[in-house]
Amino acid sequence: MLVSRITLKNWRNFRKLDLALRDRVFIVGPNAAGKSNLLDVFRFLRDIAKSDGGGLQKAVKERGGVSKIRSLAARRDPLIEIEIVLSEAVDDVPLWKYSIGIRQETRGYRQATLDYERVWKNGNQILNRPDSNDRSDPERLKQTFLEQVNTNSEFREIPKYLQSVTYLHLVPQLLRYASSFKGYTLEDDPFGQGFLERVAKCPSRTQKSRLSKIENALKVAVPQLQQLKFERDAETGRPHLAALHSHWRPNAGWQREDQFSDGTLRLIGLLWSLLESDSLLLLEEPELSLNSGIVSKLAPLIYRMQRQRKRQVIVSTHSEALLSDAGIDGREVCLLTPSTEGTSAEVAAQVDDILALLDAGLSVGEVVLPRTIPEGIEQLDIFDE
Ligand SMILES: Nc1ncnc2c1ncn2[C@@H]1O[C@H](COP(=O)(O)OP(=O)(O)OP(=O)(O)O)[C@@H](O)[C@H]1O
Ligand SMILES: [Mg+2]
Repeated sequence: MLVSRITLKNWRNFRKLDLALRDRVFIVGPNAAGKSNLLDVFRFLRDIAKSDGGGLQKAVKERGGVSKIRSLAARRDPLIEIEIVLSEAVDDVPLWKYSIGIRQETRGYRQATLDYERVWKNGNQILNRPDSNDRSDPERLKQTFLEQVNTNSEFREIPKYLQSVTYLHLVPQLLRYASSFKGYTLEDDPFGQGFLERVAKCPSRTQKSRLSKIENALKVAVPQLQQLKFERDAETGRPHLAALHSHWRPNAGWQREDQFSDGTLRLIGLLWSLLESDSLLLLEEPELSLNSGIVSKLAPLIYRMQRQRKRQVIVSTHSEALLSDAGIDGREVCLLTPSTEGTSAEVAAQVDDILALLDAGLSVGEVVLPRTIPEGIEQLDIFDE
């Protein structure tokens, strides 16, 4: 299953957004255009649907309250609206549609409250809140049905799907020194601190098979690397990754992850995530710390992984190398353009002059990225003086 369409109103810096999504999506735009905010919608829905202590109130609170997530550009219609369409495969008819409208209580604790919550299955609406129970007890509108197992049995597939959404923004330092930060790990571990635990929890056969695929990729990307393995520290029992590098001194020995390079760690995290499950994967700027030669191979790598397991991948990026791959289709690229009225989002293939250049054989990187450079950027040169 994948998210084939998303519609937003008043979500952070998007007043309005309506996007068709493919198996791979590349979100591009200048700094502060809203790339991370767009990825955050999927995490927000996951946080609502989470079975262990999720829910609407917590998801909103973690983001600083309704006033932080509602678009500052919103004037008369202060409702935050999110709608997703789920389909079995891209271009298939929709299986599910889920939509919610959220507002802030006008009195009291100013908590988030639902203006509506609706679900469609195969085109037929099967949930329409507020219902008569909600009207007689408005407190009920502080919880979605998505977060309650006793109310969502007819559409359980939606919360199940959302629960397994993964967000990866791997910070090598946090992974490397994970044990010194123990107790400070963020919930859902977006920065990869618990990455080694995840590898450790994986059943041994699957773990071996994934690590051997990663090892093969690393041998190409990291010239001296020869072998990669998982091990536990004999004394502390802590999980570790170890790599054998070819070295001028024979038997120089295995190195553990605290000695891996930033790029090696990020690549391991990225490849592991691609192999991990078949739900939506959100990748935040995967190009960071990687050599541009490797970055230019990421898009085809994601494509190849998707042939084995149908994992939808949404990537935010600034990288020309990543977008230089000729296999990227204009329908897979979402271009964000900020303005005073909020950011607008367009699928690159739907912009006529972009399409003309793509058809003429230019790559997405060549055509789309120049449009994300802020006007007046040359003024940064004054820092030279
Ligand atoms: N409620 C809101 N209403 C309007 N704008 C908001 C709201 N919340 C955040 N923003 C704006 O969104 C912008 C940040 O967006 P985001 O972090 O998604 O950018 P980005 O495209 O990921 O940038 P970068 O490339 O630097 O990572 C900031 O300028 C911030 O002011
Ligand atoms: Mg960002």
